Amino acid sequence: MLHSSSSSHKMLRPQLLKPLTFTQLLSNNKGVKLGISAGKRRIPQIMASSISTTQQQQQPVSAQVDSSQNSAPRPLQIAKRLEKFKTTIFTQMSSLAIKHGAINLGQGFPNFDGPEFVKEAAIEAIRAGKNQYARGYGVPDLNSAVADRFRLDTGLVVDPEKEVTVTSGCTEAIAATILGLINPGDEVVVFAPFYDSYEATLSMAGAKIKSITLKPPNFSVPIDELKSVVTKDTRAILMNTPHNPTGKMFTREELEAISLLCAEHDVLVFSDEVYDKLAFEMDHVSIASLPGMYERTVTLNSLGKTFSLTGWKIGWAIAPPHLTWGVRQAHAFLTFATSTPMQHAAAAALRAPESYYEELRRDYAAKKKILVDGLEAVGFTVFPSSGTYFVVVDHTPFGMENDVAFCEHLIKEVGVVAIPTSVFYLNPEEGKNLVRFTFCKDEETLRSAVVRMKEKMLMKK
Ligand SMILES: Cc1ncc(COP(=O)(O)O)c(C=O)c1O
Repeated sequence: MLHSSSSSHKMLRPQLLKPLTFTQLLSNNKGVKLGISAGKRRIPQIMASSISTTQQQQQPVSAQVDSSQNSAPRPLQIAKRLEKFKTTIFTQMSSLAIKHGAINLGQGFPNFDGPEFVKEAAIEAIRAGKNQYARGYGVPDLNSAVADRFRLDTGLVVDPEKEVTVTSGCTEAIAATILGLINPGDEVVVFAPFYDSYEATLSMAGAKIKSITLKPPNFSVPIDELKSVVTKDTRAILMNTPHNPTGKMFTREELEAISLLCAEHDVLVFSDEVYDKLAFEMDHVSIASLPGMYERTVTLNSLGKTFSLTGWKIGWAIAPPHLTWGVRQAHAFLTFATSTPMQHAAAAALRAPESYYEELRRDYAAKKKILVDGLEAVGFTVFPSSGTYFVVVDHTPFGMENDVAFCEHLIKEVGVVAIPTSVFYLNPEEGKNLVRFTFCKDEETLRSAVVRMKEKMLMKK
């Protein structure tokens, strides 16, 4: 171990690390492109040489090479349950966007601010001294606001004290649900492509992941395949509607089919609904509102997408008391409580009039049109997106080998960032033709990105 005493500190000189290329960023230590040539994303050993630039840059000085003494760098260490995961694709893409001055239509965070009345409520709460630890499962006012909003949205009346747990973003709600309700070896069904925290968190819980692929153009649920995968050994189905990255929304028929299977095999549902207020083409349906489903469902949500405040990380899990017990036990030992003043502001946000939500949808519909029309004009096949602020396209008309190569080209030669979708599959081969763009950017940014793509990529048909 390198000591960090002041004398040894002076001798240590940080090495200038050569920046890795995009391809290297997504490669394992043998230089094999992630999931493309290798076919599988699973990498048995991640050695120091295969870590991403971001990880290397984040190393404290004392952990870097002492070149004056010619000592070897210490290999990074990580528990086995996490060693196959790399720096998230969003971190990698955002760093590359900065490096190449590219317009970032990759990571899903707005480049505009959240509403003034919510920010004011946070400032007021801080000034009013609401700055000490909150009650573990949420400040009472937010628990009530979540319950009220859920009743307006679904018609379900829930007890804010016994059935709502406030968490640090939906990411923590997902983690608390999985860690609180899943035992090692339990089977959990997910729909690929899926949000990247699902696989990592299920791995931390020791779950057995069963993946069902939603395929373009409609990304419909293959009900017969689902029937063959859901058995008495299944503990839970982890689903997401409206769905990141495809924009698919689960239809009532699909939700009913899932419900029947859950009832038949006594399966739980964890339903991630963070984009519920970004539903454009159809009404959002919470699976918890279907007959018999509330008792077996944990509904997960957060403030970030709906109020353009992704950095606040206020989320929640709604579930009947017998499931809430497990969620709260995990939450108690993950974070215990979430930022107090932000919870007070979140309560104010959730009491926004309906006109707020209507305006949000109207604004996003206009942004979506700019991006979708632009992508189509450039020559992409754009798949229909009913909800979220994402669209998925087929990049193959441009002749690139795969989604990673395409995104590399797009950043370096065109100056636009998109996300390769292969990272959202257990078998990355399944996503190699698809890339995801986001339209959670101001209209000028979206227009500029379209102009860049038209200038550099317009297909001569
Ligand atoms: C499907 C999905 N679930 C959960 C999250 C995380 O939400 P939060 O920022 O509230 O943790 C995201 C964020 O992108 C998401 O896309």
